[in-house]
Amino acid sequence: MRTSTNSGRSSANCMLSSILIFLCPCNRSVTLTNSGNLVYGDYGVLLKNILWDSFNTSTDTLLPARVVHENMVLTSWRGSDDPAIGGFRLYLGPDGSGTIYNDYNIYCNHFSSDEMDNKLRNHSRDFRARFVMGFSGKREYWRWGVQGMNWSLIMAEPGNKCALNNYCGNYGVCNPNNKLECKCLPGFKPNAPEKWHSGDFPNGCDRNSTLCGENDVFFPVNMLSGDNTLKTVSVVDESACKKECLKSCDCKACSYDNDTNDCYILTQDPFDLREYADGYLTVFVRVAISDIELTVQSCEPCGINMIPYPLSTGPSCGDPNYFSFNCNTTSRQVSFMAPSGTYRVSSIDPDTRTFLIQVNDKGNLRLNYSLPFDLTSPRNFSSELSSEVTDEVEIAWEPPLETICNSSANCYGWSHSTCKSARDGKRRCLCTCSYRWDGAMLKCRKEKWMTLLLIIGITSVIILCAISSIYKWRRNITKRQVAISSLSIESSITEIEETEVEDSKHIG
Ligand SMILES: *[C@@H]1O[C@H](CO)[C@@H](O)[C@H](O)[C@H]1NC(C)=O
Ligand SMILES: *[C@@H]1O[C@H](CO)[C@@H](O)[C@H](O)[C@H]1NC(C)=O
Ligand SMILES: *[C@@H]1O[C@H](CO)[C@@H](O)[C@H](O)[C@H]1NC(C)=O
Ligand SMILES: *[C@@H]1O[C@H](CO)[C@@H](O)[C@H](O)[C@H]1NC(C)=O
Ligand SMILES: *[C@@H]1O[C@H](CO)[C@@H](O)[C@H](O)[C@H]1NC(C)=O
Ligand SMILES: *[C@@H]1O[C@H](CO)[C@@H](O)[C@H](O)[C@H]1NC(C)=O
Ligand SMILES: *[C@@H]1O[C@H](CO)[C@@H](O)[C@H](O)[C@H]1NC(C)=O
Ligand SMILES: *[C@@H]1O[C@H](CO)[C@@H](O)[C@H](O)[C@H]1NC(C)=O
Ligand SMILES: *[C@@H]1O[C@H](CO)[C@@H](O)[C@H](O)[C@H]1NC(C)=O
Repeated sequence: MRTSTNSGRSSANCMLSSILIFLCPCNRSVTLTNSGNLVYGDYGVLLKNILWDSFNTSTDTLLPARVVHENMVLTSWRGSDDPAIGGFRLYLGPDGSGTIYNDYNIYCNHFSSDEMDNKLRNHSRDFRARFVMGFSGKREYWRWGVQGMNWSLIMAEPGNKCALNNYCGNYGVCNPNNKLECKCLPGFKPNAPEKWHSGDFPNGCDRNSTLCGENDVFFPVNMLSGDNTLKTVSVVDESACKKECLKSCDCKACSYDNDTNDCYILTQDPFDLREYADGYLTVFVRVAISDIELTVQSCEPCGINMIPYPLSTGPSCGDPNYFSFNCNTTSRQVSFMAPSGTYRVSSIDPDTRTFLIQVNDKGNLRLNYSLPFDLTSPRNFSSELSSEVTDEVEIAWEPPLETICNSSANCYGWSHSTCKSARDGKRRCLCTCSYRWDGAMLKCRKEKWMTLLLIIGITSVIILCAISSIYKWRRNITKRQVAISSLSIESSITEIEETEVEDSKHIG
C-alpha cells in the first residue's frame, strides 16, 4: 500500500494501514465487497456500523455498482502515475447535470450523470469497466482485459475541444474537424489576435463596428449552451423571427423553433457556438452588413464561410472559371471538387487568395491545371496533428480576369467598366479608357502612366503659371519705374520752364 502525506487519497491509504495494524483489539474489519466497495466498520455477525467506505470517498474512479448520487464529486489525479489531488473535479448536481471544474473555473459541462451511468453500465455488460475522472480533464471509460490482465481505455470524453466550456469565447465558432478549431464569425475579429493565432481562444471575438441597422445579415450556427437570458416572442416563421430581432439593437442573435413558432431573442453575446452540431439549437447571429465584404457577383455565404469573388459555388455567382466549390446547406460546409475527389474546405483567406482543404492522403491529390488553382509551395506537415484531424493542404487561386457579362447592366457593380468583347472572345466588363483591370484588387484602377502624365501636366501648369505671374510682376514694376522716372523728368522740365519764365521776368 502506497503511503504519503501530501494528499487526501494518500492520507486515506495511510489511515487504512493504521487501521489494519490496530484491527484486532476493537473487533473491526476491512472488507472488499463483491461490488468493489472497500468497507471498514464494526464486525459482528454482519458488517454493521460502517465507519468508512471507499464508495463514499472522493476518488477519481466510479465503479458500475456505485450508486451515482447527487452532489457526488470525483477528483482527478495529478498525473498518470501521480495520485495526488489533480486539477479537475467532477460534480454531479442534484438535477443530474454534470460539471467539471478546473480549479474554480467551469472546464466542461453539457453532460449528465444519467449519460455517464448508462455508458458505464453498458460497457460493464460485456466486461468489467470503470469510469475515471482523467488527470487531463477527460471523462474516461476503462475496460478490464482478461487476457492481458490489464486495463485499457475504451472511450474518452469530450473527444474534441469544442465541447469544453466557452472554448472559442464569445462569437467564436468551433469546428472540431479544423486544425485551428476556432473561427470568428464574418465581420468579427479576435479580441487578442496574438493569443488567438497561437491557439488560445477564450478571449473570443468582437464586432468590427458597433453599427446596428435594419440591413444586418444573419449567420446560422449551433449553440451548445441554452442561455437563460432569452426573450420569447411568438411569430409565424423564421424570417419573421429575424425581423423581430432587427427591431432592437439589443438583439445579438435569434433562434426559431419550427414546432412551437417561438422566436428566442438573445440579448447577450452568444458563446459555445459550433459551426455545425446536429441536435443542438440553431441560432442566427446578427452581423452588420458594412462589416462583411461582398462584391455584386459574390456567392452567398455557406454557413459562416464567406465565398469571396471569384470563387463560385454555383452557376449564377462568382466567376465560372472558379466554379469548383460546393456548399452543403445542411452541414454548412464548403467543399472543393478536384479530379481526385471532393475535399472539405476548412478556411478561405481572400487577402492571400488561398484556402485550406482537408486531405486524407495527400499523395493522391490531383488538381486540374487548366483551372486557376495551384498548390502553394510544398509545406512540411506536422506529425503532431491530433488523430481526428487529417492533413490540411493550402491551395492558391489566380487573380481573375474581368467578369463575364451579357450587357452593360451586368457591369453595374464594377465601376469604370463597360461590357465589351474581350481578347478571349467572351464578353467581359472591360475597364474604360485610362483604367486597367487589377485582378488582385478586383477593380478597374487608374493606369499608372496616366497618373504620371497627370502629375507632370499639373506640375507643368503650376510652373507655367508661376513663371508667367513672375514675368507679369516684373513687367509691372518696370512699367511703374518708367512712369515714375518720366514723371520726374516732366516735373523737372516744368521747373526749368518756370525758372526760365521768372528769369525772363527779371530780364524784362
Ligand atoms: C454514502 O453516503 C450517503 C450520504 O452521504 C449515504 O446515504 C449512503 O448510504 C452512503 N453509502 C454507503 C455505502 O455507505
Ligand atoms: C450501449 O451499447 C450498444 C452496443 O454496443 C450501443 O448501440 C448503445 O448505443 C450503447 N448505449 C449507450 C447509452 O451508450
Ligand atoms: C494489455 O494486454 C494486451 C494483451 O496482452 C496487450 O496487447 C495490451 O497492449 C496491453 N495494454 C496495456 C495498456 O498495457
Ligand atoms: C418547419 O415546419 C414546416 C411545416 O410545419 C415544414 O414544412 C418545414 O420543413 C419545417 N422546417 C424545418 C427546417 O424543419
Ligand atoms: C474594420 O474596421 C476598420 C476600422 O474601423 C476598417 O479599417 C476595416 O476595414 C474593417 N474591416 C472589415 C472587414 O470591415
Ligand atoms: C450534407 O451534409 C449532411 C450532414 O453531414 C449529409 O448528411 C448530407 O448527405 C450532405 N448533403 C450532400 C448533398 O452532400
Ligand atoms: C479540367 O478543366 C477543363 C476546363 O474546365 C475541363 O475541360 C477538363 O475536362 C478538366 N479536366 C479534368 C481531368 O477534369
Ligand atoms: C521539413 O521536413 C524535412 C524532412 O522531414 C526536414 O529535414 C526539414 O527540416 C523540415 N523543414 C522544416 C522547416 O520543418
Ligand atoms: C448571360 O446570359 C445567359 C443566357 O441568357 C445566362 O445564362 C447568364 O446567366 C447571363 N450572365 C449574366 C452575367 O447575367
